[in-house]
Amino acid sequence: MDQARKLIRLAVFGSPVKHSLSPRIHQLFAAQAGISVEYTATEISEDFLSREVQKLADAGGTGCNITLPLKNRAFQLANRFSERAELAQAANTLVFNSATRWTADSTDGPGLVRDLLDNLHVELKSRRICIVGAGGAAAGILYDLLQQRPASLCLFNRTIGKAESLAHRFSEIGRVETGDLEQMTLANPFDLVINATSAGHHGHNPVLTGNLFGPQSLCYDLSYGAAHNSTRAWCQENGIQCHDGLGMLVEQAADSFQIWTGFTPDTKPVHQALRTLL
Ligand code: ATR
Repeated sequence: MDQARKLIRLAVFGSPVKHSLSPRIHQLFAAQAGISVEYTATEISEDFLSREVQKLADAGGTGCNITLPLKNRAFQLANRFSERAELAQAANTLVFNSATRWTADSTDGPGLVRDLLDNLHVELKSRRICIVGAGGAAAGILYDLLQQRPASLCLFNRTIGKAESLAHRFSEIGRVETGDLEQMTLANPFDLVINATSAGHHGHNPVLTGNLFGPQSLCYDLSYGAAHNSTRAWCQENGIQCHDGLGMLVEQAADSFQIWTGFTPDTKPVHQALRTLL
């Protein structure tokens, strides 16, 4: 059937997902591509993810996004996966090759790297980078950051064991140094500090310390909207240049859309349109 007339069924599953910007982003991409897309957002607990994804696949769906806290479970549902999803043990994109054969991918890392390199013109090669937080968000970006060959990549986390286990898992791609939050207070400044904790989602202050930043350092918060407020305020108070994760959100969505439809969206107008909503 002519793709322009075929309805492409997509969805995002997560919890919470009510305020997700993904349906809006994908409709803007669909308008650019001149194709019909139905993109729904379904709030769901882990126990029901498999059943709901299966329903979408049975209904002729093309694929879906999975967001927090279901990315690990989404990875387990697939029978095929990209190398970056396999290392992260997490997926934000599923493609239905058939009703029962699903491929898992993770577009968060490529989305972040493209936002940094192409949109914000931030160098990554040979730079000192640190990530604060070692949960699913950090796991989703390590592969692509290491591919950029930074001078060093350091992972700080409240629970050191989680940072060590991630560093070990990604060791075939590149070296990741680790430290706990006390060791973080002793570190020298980094060129780029990525906030990958979920503290902002709970309204808590960011887990950042002044010693991480020199005069030229940049803070990139993977959160956006209300979850970014505490980090933005902390960076403003401390005179640190800071970006939220809205650009990454749009870029990762563009990669998912490309995987499902073959169309590469122009992300710039979509990013601008969303910025007016925040
Ligand atoms: P996500 O998938 O968003 O990364 P997650 O897997 O729950 O969510 O991980 C959240 C991360 O934020 C973890 O690194 C967590 O630290 P722990 O591994 O020690 O739990 C970190 N985090 C969340 N709130 C925090 C806080 N108030 N102080 C320090 N670290 C925090």
